[in-house]
Amino acid sequence: MFNKRVKIRDAVQMAAGREEITVMGWVRTFRNNQFIALNDGSSNDQLQIVLELGKFDDGLLKKITTGASVKATGLLLESPGKGQKVELKASALEILGESDPEKFPLQPKKHSLEFLREIAHLRFRTNTFGAVFRLRHGLAFATHQFFQERGFIYLHTPVITATDAEGAGEMFKVTTLPFDSTPRTESGDVNFREDFFGRATNLTVSGQLEGELAAMGLGEIYTFGPTFRAENSNTARHLAEFWMIEPEMAFYDLEDNMDLAEAFVRYLIHYSLKNNRADLEFLDQRLAEEEKQKLQAERNDQGLIEKLESVANQNFQRISYTEAIDILRDSSSYKKKKFKYDVAWGIDLQSEHERYLVEKHFKKPVIVTGYPKEIKAFYMRQQEDGKTVAAMDILAPGIGEIVGGSQREERLDKLEARMREMDIPLEQMWWYLDTRRFGTVPHSGFGLGFERMVQFVSGMSNIRDVIPFPRTPKNAEF
Ligand code: 4AD
Ligand code: MG
Repeated sequence: MFNKRVKIRDAVQMAAGREEITVMGWVRTFRNNQFIALNDGSSNDQLQIVLELGKFDDGLLKKITTGASVKATGLLLESPGKGQKVELKASALEILGESDPEKFPLQPKKHSLEFLREIAHLRFRTNTFGAVFRLRHGLAFATHQFFQERGFIYLHTPVITATDAEGAGEMFKVTTLPFDSTPRTESGDVNFREDFFGRATNLTVSGQLEGELAAMGLGEIYTFGPTFRAENSNTARHLAEFWMIEPEMAFYDLEDNMDLAEAFVRYLIHYSLKNNRADLEFLDQRLAEEEKQKLQAERNDQGLIEKLESVANQNFQRISYTEAIDILRDSSSYKKKKFKYDVAWGIDLQSEHERYLVEKHFKKPVIVTGYPKEIKAFYMRQQEDGKTVAAMDILAPGIGEIVGGSQREERLDKLEARMREMDIPLEQMWWYLDTRRFGTVPHSGFGLGFERMVQFVSGMSNIRDVIPFPRTPKNAEF
């Protein structure tokens, strides 16, 4: 068996011993022809491999370069050096894969995140991305654990659909029709009857509608999968392909929905604080360094772990959209014309407004409810005032909207009327409307943008740095 190795995360915790162990990993640095700093991705810990001078031949030593992969066997000894408890005194060393130091793009120095994005295939070998992707994994695992503890069913919704779940028209088409001789109807439109599915299809923007169907029989479900938006937003918070967690619950009103969403976000933070502590400490340090580069006035005085603890341990602020507008109009930022976008009842909150509410006014996450129906999706429950819907968004410091959800319109007549007003094709969505025809119940759900959550917990400022291979406008490398 080849893989009889000890992971470095465990090796550095072991006591010096009498039995030899084997480790494998990638060389981070090699000093004085004697000391290898070896990392294997199990944590950011590096095991020092000590090569006795004269014991290994020059040809082998030359191949120990940054990026090379090696297998080392030897005894763990107490380390006389600083910064590590034990080190491995190698009795055998094998090069698994060489790495030409002239060509290997990762040098043992600090690289910019922008540069690392261009070599995203190699950035897993850095401390920052090691920490980020272990954290991301932890948050995914915690998501399943949270819903498992509450008896929710994990539902796999389709990636290819024929509907626009959000009604915003931001879809990537899925087709096998040829581009040069596209079949046409008599009126000159593309003839999708000849397409693979016999109709026009797209990549899903949300699993919600199918989630609702399942909740109307299974009770409480959640989806966790990729979603796609062809919106041309080149920001630090938007991806064309992102992962979303969408729970959908029968017999939940808006308040139940908010309670669940808040509990979920706080649970994820608690989980990371407990289970990804070392990586969070690394990211905390990293962020502190980054803050030092900023001007005094723009610095964040709260550290990452401090921020996470404060968010996880206190209730989120809950306000209505109308209250939010009042607060914004009363603010000195508004009076001094510091907002780029105007504030008036009916606007969609811009990220500068969301951040003002969260970071300046309340200094904690805020749940905003009761948005104007004009700026929200067709499926949201209409409120008595005739103007607003039972929507709720959670806004987080540094991120803005992290969760979007609502109580759903369960009354068939109201739902149909709204769909007609918004030009949503009713006939095509007969299956969705059937849930309101047969045994309809009050129900609710929300979507948590997974990358935005990873961004929040990791403190990374750009969403491209929390997903392995980001898809953004004009970029689909790797
Ligand atoms: O607010 P959104 O568009 O809501 C929905 O899709 C609903 N169907 C959810 C539901 O009720 N089941 O998206 C939900 C969340 C946002 O709050 C945001 O965190 C994230 O998804 N999100 C994005 N994340 C990255 N890149 C994008 N382009 C995103 N668009 C939305
Ligand atoms: Mg939204």
